[in-house]
Amino acid sequence: MIDPILQLEGLSKRYSKDRPAIFEDVDLTLRSGEYLAIMGESGVGKSTLLNLLAGLDTPDTGRVVLEGVDLTTLDDDATTRLRRRTVGFVFQAFHVLPYLSVEQNVALPLDLLGVAEPERGRRTQEMLTAVGIEALSQRHTRELSGGEVQRVAIARALVHRPRLVLADEPTGNLDARSAAQTLTLLRAQIKANAGAGILITHSRAAADTADRIVVLEARGLKALEAA
Ligand SMILES: Nc1ncnc2c1ncn2[C@@H]1O[C@H](COP(=O)(O)OP(=O)(O)O)[C@@H](O)[C@H]1O
Ligand SMILES: [Mg+2]
Repeated sequence: MIDPILQLEGLSKRYSKDRPAIFEDVDLTLRSGEYLAIMGESGVGKSTLLNLLAGLDTPDTGRVVLEGVDLTTLDDDATTRLRRRTVGFVFQAFHVLPYLSVEQNVALPLDLLGVAEPERGRRTQEMLTAVGIEALSQRHTRELSGGEVQRVAIARALVHRPRLVLADEPTGNLDARSAAQTLTLLRAQIKANAGAGILITHSRAAADTADRIVVLEARGLKALEAA
């Protein structure tokens, strides 16, 4: 196990030459077992930052070191392989595939990693049980409630036991009760996995479920104490 799991050094990103950078001088160290919330106003660049640290986009300056490997030195294929193995994503609910069953959605990351039966089925069932949706395994996700879909998304993000879990506004579409349940579950699963997690949110109540809070601003990340 390589610690820290993630290091960001002097990261900056601009989408266009004639506009100012979205953000500059972003530094961050994320250690094994840490659960971090990143807050910031809408449009400040939270999703952009998440894409950079998962190697889905490249920064203009700086380094993203994931499990000791500088992503900016890897080609696309190598980045994809590292991401599949190391990272689990929880997006807003609509990224779950509506025409697949709950079980098929959750097994997807294992398929991509070439995990075969019976191991694939065993780990999928275990994960469905862990998030409390084992009874829904054969249902299509389009028939589920928002809170149930988000459990599918969490199960899918964690089924391959990634070292780093990234959640981008995972409760944005949920009512307060489902949001609270989802956040509790997400935290518990990240801690059980002994990896690290980053929760992106504009809600202070959501951010307070993390161990530590930082705020993204144009000139970098600023620490904020967790309540
Ligand atoms: N692919 C893109 N091309 C150009 N501009 C973009 C792109 N993605 C995001 N932006 C712009 O970058 C800024 C930050 O966006 P985003 O990272 O989505 O912010 P947040 O997630 O904090 O709401 C916004 O002004 C947005 O319009
Ligand atoms: Mg966003």
